[in-house]
Amino acid sequence: MPGDMPRHADLMERARRVIPGGMYGHQSTARLPASFPQFFSRAEGARMWDADGREFIDYMCGYGPNLFGYGFAKVEAAVDAQRALGDSMTGPGPVMVELAEAMVATVAHADWAMFCKNGTDATSMALLVARAHRGRRKIVLARDTYHGAAAWSTPRPGGVLPEDRAHLIYCRYNDPQSLEDAVREAGDDLAGICVTPFRHETFRHQHLPELEFARLARELCDRHDALLILDEVRAGFRLARDCSWHDLGVEPDLSCWGKAIANGHPLSALLGSERAREAAQKPYLTGSFWFSAVPMAAAVATLKEIRESDYLERTIRTGTALRDGLQQQAASHGFSLRQTGPVQMPQILFEEDDDFRLGYAWVEGALKRGIYLHPFHNMFICAALTEADVRETLEKTDLAFADLRRDAPGLQGPPPQIAATVAAMAGDRR
Ligand SMILES: Cc1ncc(COP(=O)(O)O)c(C=O)c1O
Repeated sequence: MPGDMPRHADLMERARRVIPGGMYGHQSTARLPASFPQFFSRAEGARMWDADGREFIDYMCGYGPNLFGYGFAKVEAAVDAQRALGDSMTGPGPVMVELAEAMVATVAHADWAMFCKNGTDATSMALLVARAHRGRRKIVLARDTYHGAAAWSTPRPGGVLPEDRAHLIYCRYNDPQSLEDAVREAGDDLAGICVTPFRHETFRHQHLPELEFARLARELCDRHDALLILDEVRAGFRLARDCSWHDLGVEPDLSCWGKAIANGHPLSALLGSERAREAAQKPYLTGSFWFSAVPMAAAVATLKEIRESDYLERTIRTGTALRDGLQQQAASHGFSLRQTGPVQMPQILFEEDDDFRLGYAWVEGALKRGIYLHPFHNMFICAALTEADVRETLEKTDLAFADLRRDAPGLQGPPPQIAATVAAMAGDRR
């Protein structure tokens, strides 16, 4: 191995030999601009450092888990204290009951809680529980919505059988007629409706929920004695200190949580109302690490901070400053941005950029100046991000816009698989 090889390039080469494809999942940088680092050596607050020691203000927050800042002291103190006592033991620690009580006290619709590791565990459990409720099979979902990487939900076809999805019926998000049609198709076999609190549409747009759609989902579940599942894995506690539809006056029977609930420690949860309690006892639900006490202690401390701090208002404030600043900046350089979704979960795309040429070049320009943005996925604002961080970000993005204006005519496009993915998504929708 050459001694002068940068550590990052070295890791990439070694990974290619011992990890299929060099990396997998959306954490792979294969679809990102070439300069995006695959490996990070440390993180603190709103910042992270790659394996070559380059520092970034991080707008991805680990794809969601970082809510209060990496290494947030109050959570880490709880982690250290629990670790000194024990973690994966022969049974759960008392902290499991404390956490279930805290979840039930925080989330209005919840009367009980069960814990697991990843969002996919929670959404898959929710489907089992909904089916166990009345012994029915059909689940209505919104098309092109990500609910995880199990056979029923993964967006890639590899290894998936038609049987894995035989009882899923798709509707269009925010389209009441399409939801009614899907429920009609399920007939007397409807087990549940499973939706995200708003529509995260990678590559395109984020759509906030329409009240009529949310209310109709509730009403149809009541009418058919089916369960309404809200998949809060990505948005949970980023929009509200409760379920994201609480303020709309729509409560689910089951809600799925993950990512931010333990501020980066591995934990997810299925919460349910009294109506679903009996059904939750029917499937066999477990995992070797689902009962480990350390992430639960992290979640108890995270929930306390959620209830007692002004984190939500702060992320809205910094998210708004970023969105407004970027909109003005883009316009001053002659570009037009499509910024959608809640400000604390921003998605930033360029208008008239179907091949993502502008977006890719712009995020590369920001990255080389220490700002980690994503060219097509929604991002996340953590509570550790300060107004000074936003000012620093805007100084750097201004320079990235200036580069873009200069280089736009001769830009190379993103990797061809991006265009293929976007075209396939458009095909699905027809
Ligand atoms: C809405 C939603 N549901 C489920 C999942 C799956 O979560 P995990 O990756 O932790 O399995 C995700 C992950 O991004 C998600 O965004």
